Amino acid sequence: MKKIFTKSLIITLAISTIVLVGGCTKKSTGNESDTSNKTATESTENNKETVNTNDSESTEAKTKLVLGTSADYPPYEFFATVDGKETIVGFDIDIAKEIAKDMGMELEIKDITFEGLLGALASDKVDIVIAGMTPTEKRKESADFSKIYYNATHGVVMKKEAATQVKSLGDLNGKVIGVQQGSIQADMVHEKVTNAKEIKEVPKITDLILMLQTGKVDAVVMEKPVAESYSKTNSSIALTSIEVSDEAGGSAVAIKKGNIELVKKVDETIDRLLKEGKIDEFLIEANKLADEQKK
Ligand code: ARG
Repeated sequence: MKKIFTKSLIITLAISTIVLVGGCTKKSTGNESDTSNKTATESTENNKETVNTNDSESTEAKTKLVLGTSADYPPYEFFATVDGKETIVGFDIDIAKEIAKDMGMELEIKDITFEGLLGALASDKVDIVIAGMTPTEKRKESADFSKIYYNATHGVVMKKEAATQVKSLGDLNGKVIGVQQGSIQADMVHEKVTNAKEIKEVPKITDLILMLQTGKVDAVVMEKPVAESYSKTNSSIALTSIEVSDEAGGSAVAIKKGNIELVKKVDETIDRLLKEGKIDEFLIEANKLADEQKK
């Protein structure tokens, strides 16, 4: 009896090790909360949704890949009403679906504040992070990264009437500048706008846009495609002509440190998507969807 117990314990341990090595959590038996009645501003760490990327009807237990993202960054990731339901969409999400599909797994999405993403990865709450995240040297200390799948410059949004009055980052001196907490834009603004009236670091970009509309900040700095997207969907704000290049930057998928196997798999999918021109297609689709969310 004892022997049988020991044997099954070893088997169980072996199975969990395989699952851990794969870097992915086994499919749970439900209890997932639904995002259907949550709005973009209500999003919390508990926001989850499962997307089935596996077409096969197979009844055997499927495994799932848990994605951590910060859905406040159109066209990368954002909440959109799709078929009357609040859904997390964006070209990062499309990439995640392809990764899950290539791995034969189901995708579960968790919306987490940007600054908490790498912590969630380190504590196994998520398997991968895709959030327009730049693989900085500092971040590489706590996570591994895939290759770069997209590169953008930085842009700035302001109130429509003020947007035409600035030409360079230096023109933001004396102003209240909003940046996302924990972002590279926060570091960049601290470094380059040394005489700002105040630099406000806020967890969510959606809140920064509200603060801009209500005059609590004068300018918000983010990746340019995001700045463009928000200025299209909010008539009171506009994109300025300020553009800061970020050649050493770009977005990559973050993976728990040491999981070389998963990095390899993710890179394979990225290679395929780049070769097929899919990422550009996803971007166009995501922009269309974001523009439709006009307020
Ligand atoms: N690329 C910037 C960074 O890595 C900002 C990314 C913000 N992403 C988001 N989903 N809010 O710091």
